[in-house]
Amino acid sequence: TGALAALSRPAVLAAPGAAPAAVPSVSFPMDFLWGVSTSSYQIEGAVAEDGRGPSVWDTYSHSFGRIANGDTGDVACDHYHRYAEDVDLMAKAGMKAYRFSIAWPRVMPQGTGAVNAKGLDFYDRLTDTLLAKGIQPWPCLFHWDLPQALQDKGGWTNRDIAGWFTDYALAVTARLGDRARNWAMLNEPSVVAIFGHGTGGHAPGMTGRQNCLKAIHHQNLAQGTAIAALRQAGGRNWRLGTVLSLQPSWPVGGLDSNYPASLMWDALWNRSCLDPLFKGRFPEQLEAEFTRIAKPDDLARIKQPVDFLGVNYYSRMHQQPDGQGLFGTGYGSAPEGTRKTGMEWPVEPDGLSEILAELQEKYGNPPVYVTENGADYPDSVGPSGRVEDRDRIAYLRDHLLAAAKSIDEGCNLKGYMAWTLLDNFEWSEGYRRHFGLVQVDRKTMARTPKASYDWYASVIRNNAVPL
Ligand code: NOJ
Repeated sequence: TGALAALSRPAVLAAPGAAPAAVPSVSFPMDFLWGVSTSSYQIEGAVAEDGRGPSVWDTYSHSFGRIANGDTGDVACDHYHRYAEDVDLMAKAGMKAYRFSIAWPRVMPQGTGAVNAKGLDFYDRLTDTLLAKGIQPWPCLFHWDLPQALQDKGGWTNRDIAGWFTDYALAVTARLGDRARNWAMLNEPSVVAIFGHGTGGHAPGMTGRQNCLKAIHHQNLAQGTAIAALRQAGGRNWRLGTVLSLQPSWPVGGLDSNYPASLMWDALWNRSCLDPLFKGRFPEQLEAEFTRIAKPDDLARIKQPVDFLGVNYYSRMHQQPDGQGLFGTGYGSAPEGTRKTGMEWPVEPDGLSEILAELQEKYGNPPVYVTENGADYPDSVGPSGRVEDRDRIAYLRDHLLAAAKSIDEGCNLKGYMAWTLLDNFEWSEGYRRHFGLVQVDRKTMARTPKASYDWYASVIRNNAVPL
């Protein structure tokens, strides 16, 4: 009966080390790193505690009309006080890695100069709590909450920020670098530039082509300068990398007439970060403009060897000419019949394979971690009293299957971190969007795992995705 019982046992109950479950599934490499990602402003709250200074997102979210429902990150998920419970949730799901971000305004309330020890204390406690549970900390040094004091000096449009960021990076790693090994510099620099400095839909709300390109270039420069400085300071086995949002850019309807628009958007969104970092050059479409902003040796400072690249992937982008749009291009629709998430983002798992293949073929096949992937859905509560989010499970499954296919084809994909642990502050969309594996009650802050949380835990336990 032993064998029969084992055969009929559903995958979710398989004991660690047990024979592969009796459901058809696709396995991952033994050392594949499973985890989850979050960011400081989206979950921490406690914006005025322990000496934290204001960030651009505090200013922006408190400006009338910027965020859906007037939401702010003042309380967010109260993770600043509930981090131990949140780490427990990760541990119970068997997660091996946690990517979180450090809030610059907690560490340096004025952006430069004096370090606020109490701010670093929080990340110290978090790091120790993770390590005690066997979870690798993957800190990211910048996930959008720039100190307002630096914005007052021009923020990412000011070239001096390369030095400010490097000083901050040195201060953080000096404190946590004896325990945290993997360090990401930036999160999605092109998104910060495009929405924060081009269209104005994100903090700090700047607009225009020139500001957008300056913000990209100075983030690249800050990243390169910091990586070089950390390598000098290091000697502690650090692995240094950065996180980019990479999405294939396609011409709407596959039309030739939309092709130039899709190439321009690809240059801006993907290649303006990839090409300087890996190839030491600007993408052709924007070369002239970047060259006017840059100083002669900037590209040499930006092209730094990285130990890993983090890739955030959600969907493809479908572009067409748009006279009102930034850089003359605008978003159009995905092919008819494409499924959509709550945010109306097309569900296109093959796009992830396309990105990974490009990194393999054109960028030297660097070690890659998917550092974000996930979906917003309306998430109604089922008869069980909790969220039965079958659509989120399908989204995650389809993207993981695409990832497994890419590994088979020789892509250097080493791990996957779902976005995200908790329903949280989704930037200009506020709390009305839900990307979490765990639901957060906005009144009581109670955490309730969704069906997707259990599903993901079983994936990790089996090191395999059920078909
Ligand atoms: C990417 C960003 O890094 C993250 O902060 C955001 O919540 C997700 N995309 C979903 O939009």
